[in-house]
Amino acid sequence: MQLSWSTLLTAGLATISVQATPVEVARRATPTVYLAGDSTMARTSGAHMGWGEYLPKYINLPVVNKAISGRSARSYTNEGRFAEIERLIQRDDIVIIEFGHNDGGSPNSANDNGRSACGGTGDEVCRSGKTGELVYTFNKYIENAARSFLNKGARVIISSQTPNNPWEGGVFSQSPPRFVGYAGLAAQRTGASFVDHFWACINMYRRLGNQKTNSLFPQDHTHTNHEGADLVAQAFVQAVARDFNGTTPLKQYLKQPVPTVW
Ligand SMILES: *[C@@H]1O[C@H](CO)[C@@H](O)[C@H](O)[C@H]1NC(C)=O
Repeated sequence: MQLSWSTLLTAGLATISVQATPVEVARRATPTVYLAGDSTMARTSGAHMGWGEYLPKYINLPVVNKAISGRSARSYTNEGRFAEIERLIQRDDIVIIEFGHNDGGSPNSANDNGRSACGGTGDEVCRSGKTGELVYTFNKYIENAARSFLNKGARVIISSQTPNNPWEGGVFSQSPPRFVGYAGLAAQRTGASFVDHFWACINMYRRLGNQKTNSLFPQDHTHTNHEGADLVAQAFVQAVARDFNGTTPLKQYLKQPVPTVW
């Protein structure tokens, strides 16, 4: 029998898929998604809500929302919250890390709030002007956490912080805080995936316009209401679906159809 090219190609593809199968089989059927972040991601009470509570609407995986209001990469580390996630995760779980709202300011000040990181993006250290505690950079805290999860075989997505209301005052304006770029850098250095949630949300708010966007921020320019939290979750999953800043392990678990909000 004469072998045709198509037979040979089919045989070749079959070999490839046979080789690929054991890797797929080894993956856990249903990984768990863990969320580490601040109030903009957390379950909160009152008029505002964090976007992590709406993520389960858009993905086919269980979500454990470990985000806590008021936390920064530094305080989340010092309270042992990254360490708790490290203990909980199993191979193939997915951890999304998103900080930045509470990370600014100066640790050197006499009224250091326990949240500010040192300046820089590397091994710089400084001391708390209040307690004398040794403080590290935002990148040091985030990259340490990401590596500890990756070392356990989990998959990590570092996400940039959500923007404050870009229509505050009725005129569209935005400028990314330094932690947006720092988050991208942390992903690059650790081999984690990156989602630029900041820019995804900015694109969405630009499209929603002044009146609609302002209606989503009932109390201040940082925290959205429930509808806003849902939209901020949609901006995130749309970024995942479009590989906005590269591929992520979450894409294969998105519910279809994926919302389009930007
Ligand atoms: C993420 O991707 C978007 C779209 O290409 C781009 O505008 C943005 O600058 C990227 N973010 C970073 C931090 O590189």
